[in-house]
Amino acid sequence: MGIIMEGKTVSSALKEKVKKEVEEIKIKYGKTPKLTVILCGDDPASIIYVKNKEKACAALKIDSEVIRFDSNASEEEIKKTINVLAKDEKVNGILVQLPLPKGINERNIIELIPLEKDVDGLTSLNVSKLVRGEEGIVPCTPLGIIDMLDYYAIPLEGKRVSVVGRSMLVGKPLFNLLTNRNATVTLCHSKTKDLKEETRLSDIVIMAIGKPLFLKEDMIKDGAIVIDVGINRIDGQIYGDADFENLKNKASYITPVPGGCGLMTVAELLNNTIKCFYLQNRK
Ligand code: GUN
Repeated sequence: MGIIMEGKTVSSALKEKVKKEVEEIKIKYGKTPKLTVILCGDDPASIIYVKNKEKACAALKIDSEVIRFDSNASEEEIKKTINVLAKDEKVNGILVQLPLPKGINERNIIELIPLEKDVDGLTSLNVSKLVRGEEGIVPCTPLGIIDMLDYYAIPLEGKRVSVVGRSMLVGKPLFNLLTNRNATVTLCHSKTKDLKEETRLSDIVIMAIGKPLFLKEDMIKDGAIVIDVGINRIDGQIYGDADFENLKNKASYITPVPGGCGLMTVAELLNNTIKCFYLQNRK
């Protein structure tokens, strides 16, 4: 059986580091870092994610605030709020929970977040820094995956990696992070001709497509490393994009769902909030 990559162990270590930094900031600056989340509409998954973010902030004594809009709020109303938060010195991080309701242009909203408050790393400036391999704020889920691979001392240089899913939140930033670490990355998606052919060649397969239990053992090579970003809710149960039970004896390392990448995402958000605090206060 492969080694199970425990999100709890890795995320706890990161949260412990963040907790110490929050305490240091309080002593040194007399301030408490603050994250503000914008939640529009009533998507049940988004409501759960935002609750988890609030709880995680509270546990580490980071201030947090959730500003809610109903699903028929106008783009102008949301933009006005972001512009106020952009100028508010008490707010160190601004996160717009995605997806936004239909009719609202995601780009128009996100681009209003100042670079140094962009905890999600989704503004064009942070995206271009990532593509160039410069220091910046990187989206939380891909960053969590890299930290998890590093924690288990899995080398990336020269490795063949299939990233399955090309979203702005996961697949595309992950492609860049892995490329910057000298991996050979194939970014696969719904139009990939023969997905199995790609994944079977790969040393590491990363699943982020939102299709429950999609990856099976005939799609990986012996000893491959499987990272599962999927969180698919069916009848109150959570399933990943990879079939853990089917894969666990063929993979050398594998992340479970739940208990894998999801825990890392929240810990990275807290860490990015601290990074943003320093970007604003160390000038
Ligand atoms: N929706 C699902 N995951 C995320 C995330 O990491 N950031 C934002 N803003 N929205 C999300």
